Amino acid sequence: MCPGSFDPVTNGHLDIIGRASRLYDEVVVAVLLNQSKSGLFPIEERMAMLREVTASYGNVTVESFEGLLVEFCKARSIPVVVKGLRAVSDFDYELQMAQMNLGLAGVETMFMPTNPLYSFLSSSLIKDVVKFGGDVSAHVPEAVRLRLVERLGPAT
Ligand code: PNS
Repeated sequence: MCPGSFDPVTNGHLDIIGRASRLYDEVVVAVLLNQSKSGLFPIEERMAMLREVTASYGNVTVESFEGLLVEFCKARSIPVVVKGLRAVSDFDYELQMAQMNLGLAGVETMFMPTNPLYSFLSSSLIKDVVKFGGDVSAHVPEAVRLRLVERLGPAT
């Protein structure tokens, strides 16, 4: 399982999903449905973008989940969560979550170092850059860039 908010999916996410799809027979990308945090894109649109950009991977499916990640894993007999680590700053929180998920339900976490090309990327940074007219074409798939510009880009 590759979990996240994916608001929206970036090339950094896609790199991790693609690498996970080569290591595991099946990969479920699970988008967190967070009632208290609405985000920029509605959950259906985040999932549609993810489906579009992962369509070439035959073993990747996209779902959403609410509540505890380990409950989603248990319900689908998913034994492993794959997480990308961009920098040491990601590690503290990711370690806490990994240890909690292991303790709660025996769900393992595999950390994958992010491709250095994408180690500075985050969905929130991308949204900020688009809002002020910056070019994110190297950082997100084209289908995602178009939706971002449509929603956030400065009026022309
Ligand atoms: O893309 P994000 O926002 O960094 O993803 C964080 C996510 C969805 C992986 C994390 O918030 C999560 O697992 N949320 C589900 C709720 C849960 O299980 N919390 C306890 C984790 S120890």
